[in-house]
Amino acid sequence: MDTSVNVLCIGAGYVGGPTMAVIADRCRHARVTVVDVNEARIAAWNSDALPIFEPGLDDVVRRARGRNLFFSTDIEAGIRDADIIFVSVNALTKTFEEGAGRAADLQYWEKTARQILAHSTRGKIVVEKSTLPVRTAEAMERILNSGERGLRFEVVSNPEFLAEGTAIKDLERPDRVLVGSHETPAGANARRAVTDLYATWVPRDRIIESNLWSAELSKLTANAFLAQRISSINSISALCEVTEADVDEVAYAIGTDSRIGPRFLKASVGFGGSCFRKDILNLVYISESYGLDEVARYWESVVRMNDWQEARFVRRMLASMFNTVAGKRIALFGFAFKADTGDTRESPALAVTRQLLDEHAHVVITDPQALANARIDTARLEGAIEYEPDPYAAAKGAHAIAVLTEWEVYRTLDYARLLAAMERPAFVFDGRNILDHRRLFEMGFSVYAVGKRPLKHV
Ligand SMILES: NC(=O)c1ccc[n+]([C@@H]2O[C@H](COP(=O)([O-])OP(=O)(O)OC[C@H]3O[C@@H](n4cnc5c(N)ncnc54)[C@H](O)[C@@H]3O)[C@@H](O)[C@H]2O)c1
Repeated sequence: MDTSVNVLCIGAGYVGGPTMAVIADRCRHARVTVVDVNEARIAAWNSDALPIFEPGLDDVVRRARGRNLFFSTDIEAGIRDADIIFVSVNALTKTFEEGAGRAADLQYWEKTARQILAHSTRGKIVVEKSTLPVRTAEAMERILNSGERGLRFEVVSNPEFLAEGTAIKDLERPDRVLVGSHETPAGANARRAVTDLYATWVPRDRIIESNLWSAELSKLTANAFLAQRISSINSISALCEVTEADVDEVAYAIGTDSRIGPRFLKASVGFGGSCFRKDILNLVYISESYGLDEVARYWESVVRMNDWQEARFVRRMLASMFNTVAGKRIALFGFAFKADTGDTRESPALAVTRQLLDEHAHVVITDPQALANARIDTARLEGAIEYEPDPYAAAKGAHAIAVLTEWEVYRTLDYARLLAAMERPAFVFDGRNILDHRRLFEMGFSVYAVGKRPLKHV
């Protein structure tokens, strides 16, 4: 087929895979190749069992793969042929020395820049897709434009705002696409090449253009604001529990104010996902490095509140179960960090599992999509732990069920059947506030929901 632009994406993860699949699906004029160092991941992208679960992804990949969408491990050839290179590799939090636990570990990022330079025979547009600390593009450009062959690379920032679980919808109908570049003629040309790609299906008024640093900082800021809303309502949930206010009623009442808005006001066991914590800690580190300690402390408190909420959830379980869970079977409903994904990175379920094992509980994990990842995440934990795909089997003989992921399926289980097979008194801890608490209470459960007065029989 006739293609006029060669697009490469380095990194075939939760962002690279779905994003490029949608670009290929919508831009017939583009030849899109996604490369990764992980051979198993690429093999899975080329198979019928894609490496990630995302509603709607299978259909998009099936339509475009082999037509103008390709998955490969040949990174060098990919770089050589590309006009536009998206870089969507993971930038984890540094675990050693200066900035450990907070700063971004940019070693993979730098390696990628050097690799692009080494295998390019002409100048290219390099697009930062990963979420990176503000001013990363500066270092990237310095490396890319340091070659002796005089090749010129233009770096553009195009952060990804998709949310896992709704990635395809978010990509097909984004709230906005953000493209930042230098405000030079070459920068403007590069920016246009990237916006033209999106304009194939995204209305022009939803494509925002900015300078490079604004684009980089906007993504960190968006994640910080989203996480801050969760920590804010979670802080209020603690106050609700001691005052008999109901956090869902409070959230509804404040959310009707158009200045506040109703979304992202759901109290819970805490936020997870690969991004919120990492990106806020990046923001904290950058602020500190510019001497802005008050800014750093402000954003750091969002993460601290989340850690506290996770720990508080388990403390409440303990307190209500007569101050001991030792030897008690506890069924965790959900391990994914949110519904409709198999992703468990930074999931609050992991913190809850750890604490329950520390208390010598017998933990049984069930999840419709995330059991394989749960096994990997908990492999090194010591204690009694089981993995059970069937929630009814997980709850059999349990003292408590803790709902940790808002999977739709957990709303509609037969709770009378679950109760019949459980030890008494039977507890439900709803860490996502998705169940019908009054009905469960009337059935015989003692029910503890986040930010609500407990409904208890004992
Ligand atoms: N997951 C999300 O919901 C989300 C949303 C928006 C932005 N982001 C950002 O996007 C970036 C990628 O996130 P992700 O969730 O897709 O990560 P991921 O871990 O799922 O995928 C990253 C991939 O990059 C590959 N990789 C690493 N170094 C490489 C190299 N040198 N060459 C080739 N491949 C390499 C890894 O093997 C991996 O498959 C991160 O910066 C993240 O913060 C993620």
